[in-house]
Amino acid sequence: MELFYFLVIICLSFAFSGRCSNDYSRNDFPEGFVFGSAISAFQWEGAVDEDGRMPSVLDTVTHSSNGSSGVIACDGYHKYKEDVKLMYDMGLDAFRFSISWSRLIPSGRGPVNPKGLRFYKNLIRELKRHGIEPHVTLLHDDLPQALEDEYGGWIDRKIIDDFTAYADVCFREFGNTVKFWSTINEPNMLAMVSYGVGLVPHIHCSPPNGMVNCTKGNTSTEPYIVLHNMLLAHASTARLYKQKYKNKQNGSIGITCFAFWMIPFTSSEEDAIATQRAKDFLLGWVLHPLVFGDYPNVMRRIVGKRLPCFSEEESDLVKDSSDFLGVIHYRTTYTADLSSPSQGDFLSDMAASIIRMGFFHEIIDVHPWGLEGVLEYIKQNYGNPPVYILENGRPTNHHSSLNDVGRVEYLHAYIAAVLNSVRKGSETRGYFQWSFMDLFEFIDPNYTYGLYYVNFSDPERKRSPKTSAFWYSCFLNGTTICPQELKNISISSSPGFSSS
Ligand SMILES: *[C@@H]1O[C@H](CO)[C@@H](O)[C@H](O)[C@H]1NC(C)=O
Ligand SMILES: *[C@@H]1O[C@H](CO)[C@@H](O)[C@H](O)[C@H]1NC(C)=O
Ligand SMILES: *[C@@H]1O[C@H](CO)[C@@H](O)[C@H](O)[C@H]1NC(C)=O
Ligand SMILES: *[C@@H]1O[C@H](CO)[C@@H](O)[C@H](O)[C@H]1NC(C)=O
Ligand SMILES: *[C@@H]1O[C@H](CO)[C@@H](O)[C@H](O)[C@H]1NC(C)=O
Ligand SMILES: *[C@@H]1O[C@H](CO)[C@@H](O)[C@H](O)[C@H]1NC(C)=O
Ligand SMILES: *[C@@H]1O[C@H](CO)[C@@H](O)[C@H](O)[C@H]1NC(C)=O
Ligand SMILES: *[C@@H]1O[C@H](CO)[C@@H](O)[C@H](O)[C@H]1NC(C)=O
Repeated sequence: MELFYFLVIICLSFAFSGRCSNDYSRNDFPEGFVFGSAISAFQWEGAVDEDGRMPSVLDTVTHSSNGSSGVIACDGYHKYKEDVKLMYDMGLDAFRFSISWSRLIPSGRGPVNPKGLRFYKNLIRELKRHGIEPHVTLLHDDLPQALEDEYGGWIDRKIIDDFTAYADVCFREFGNTVKFWSTINEPNMLAMVSYGVGLVPHIHCSPPNGMVNCTKGNTSTEPYIVLHNMLLAHASTARLYKQKYKNKQNGSIGITCFAFWMIPFTSSEEDAIATQRAKDFLLGWVLHPLVFGDYPNVMRRIVGKRLPCFSEEESDLVKDSSDFLGVIHYRTTYTADLSSPSQGDFLSDMAASIIRMGFFHEIIDVHPWGLEGVLEYIKQNYGNPPVYILENGRPTNHHSSLNDVGRVEYLHAYIAAVLNSVRKGSETRGYFQWSFMDLFEFIDPNYTYGLYYVNFSDPERKRSPKTSAFWYSCFLNGTTICPQELKNISISSSPGFSSS
């Protein structure tokens, strides 16, 4: 109960510190607006070869570092009750997690693993018992290795049927309690990074574009094929849900989109045009088909034959297939025109360079207007669909202090940005902080996003609340926020910061 007293003390000190001009509280959000936090299966569960689970493509990075790895990760598989209690104490409305496909259906297709089924039923029951709404993502990067071995994963259209059949099991088994389904996590980022530069599994790429030495892949075609198949798998799954389950289960289904905000690097016309082109390539790639049934014209023109076509039937299937859009936003970048000769990869097709993208390593700057930019852009260009922000957060060095004031500053500013957007008419209905606790961040385990610190050297994987956990809890409880005393403390310097 130590936590509780700490909470009361912190909340009181916020409450009595006076109002700032930019103060707001959760009571300023519309009724029913959902606040939650998120994790993903592979990064949290551990227990990779327990109770019948088979490897996913992410298991190849499992042994990448001592201490933090996917083998045990946060040991969420065994500690889920304890974690749900922490969520309850924090006051979360909702929790976003993903299902490990190869835990539920170990070979990717075929028999269901009863122990996998039991785990997710228990987790969902525990959440509901504590009044926490589950938001489930069907696939968060961890495709069953068996399907990658059999046909190369997302590059083959066979994946569409396999994904739909897997989703069918999830709807049938969990759909009476789960009302919010996201099909695929960050399809645009996965296509670009996993199949473009091979940085993370699936590790597909071809020279000269790889950031690693890939043994398979084709950088100039596969990212487009893969995204196409992801959209079709999403749409096929959404159709199944609507035809077979929605009337009975009354839930909704959407897809997610990784969304940088981008602004021109200089005031030149070239950079302005390049920025629009980059928005079409990064956001339009996913959103245009969902709203208009095809890719943006500029992509058709530049990518040509390498960009797959939708048949009329497929176009109808994809169009309007999402009840909501899941937005994943961390940072704003500059965009500059890039007129180097095309090497036939995604970035040179886009003909724009993303400056300070810095592949995940550095502390993310606080530019909350970037999130407003994304939400406004979606509102104006894509018919103002219902939006859930499914990931937003700031990394800090895992080994730095529990006093993560930089994270508090970020969350405070970004939640205010969401409020501004809602006031300007965005249909944003929920916000999920990433991540509830420090996870196995396989791209760089030294930078974690948790509200709770997890000691990965401790066999017990002890969780300890950071300042941000207290802050979010106060916010969720409706306390007026004025964290002046927190802002006073400067964040520790971060190794690994790269400026371009
Ligand atoms: C939450 O707010 C209520 C008043 O609105 C207060 O009574 C309660 O102590 C707060 N709880 C915590 C944990 O701060
Ligand atoms: C790996 O473990 C060793 C021994 O426990 C420790 O000294 C070292 O710092 C660890 N390395 C990392 C990257 O955590
Ligand atoms: C790929 O392999 C070659 C030859 O072994 C090596 O010189 C090169 O540095 C490797 N590249 C990367 C990105 O690992
Ligand atoms: C990639 O696919 C295209 C189209 O099929 C082909 O022309 C090109 O040679 C392939 N590139 C590699 C590296 O295999
Ligand atoms: C379905 O959900 C809507 C909105 O959440 C709610 O108003 C309605 O009562 C629900 N219907 C059933 C049959 O549960
Ligand atoms: C993480 O930090 C450890 C110790 O500070 C360092 O040895 C290691 O190289 C870092 N790993 C990465 C991926 O930067
Ligand atoms: C993490 O756990 C290890 C092993 O129990 C312990 O020695 C270490 O002090 C802990 N580190 C922190 C930061 O709590
Ligand atoms: C804020 O900064 C001032 C001046 O550096 C310092 O005296 C004060 O103790 C700080 N307050 C907190 C809460 O850290």
